[in-house]
Amino acid sequence: MSRLTSALMLSVLCATSLVTLANEHKLNPATGLVDATGHNMVAAHCTACHSAKLISQNQMSRERWLETIRWMQSTQKLWPLGEAEPVILDYLTTWYGPKIQSRRAPIPTHLMPQGSD
Ligand code: HEC
Repeated sequence: MSRLTSALMLSVLCATSLVTLANEHKLNPATGLVDATGHNMVAAHCTACHSAKLISQNQMSRERWLETIRWMQSTQKLWPLGEAEPVILDYLTTWYGPKIQSRRAPIPTHLMPQGSD
């Protein structure tokens, strides 16, 4: 493979990963959770007993998140969340909701790259 071809392939790879990075949301370095409205409430209430990974590895509907919170409150001594509860639920459902909701629509065929031959 020529040097030019390798250089071209490398720059295509770099461009692709830059686009991927731009589409991802910034993660908070302390918690590893998405840095967005509600993050600090979640950090304050939800990382005292276990790692934030327990949150980020889940994808639940609002109902299921609420059930999980109620379960922790009745069995794991999680305190009442008060006014923080709706904020926390909004955050969890937005960023750690069911995958199907956060998937973007497929790219229309006419916007896909054409074969180069
Ligand atoms: C008072 C301690 C405590 C706090 C605070 C707490 N949790 Fe938990 N949570 C637990 C325990 C204990 C478990 C069970 C851990 C295990 O199974 O190893 C758990 C488990 C979980 C799980 C996994 C549930 C499953 O079905 O596997 C999730 C998700 C979770 N917590 C999210 C949260 C969120 C969101 C918050 C903030 C609203 C929170 N936790 C705050 C104690 C707590």
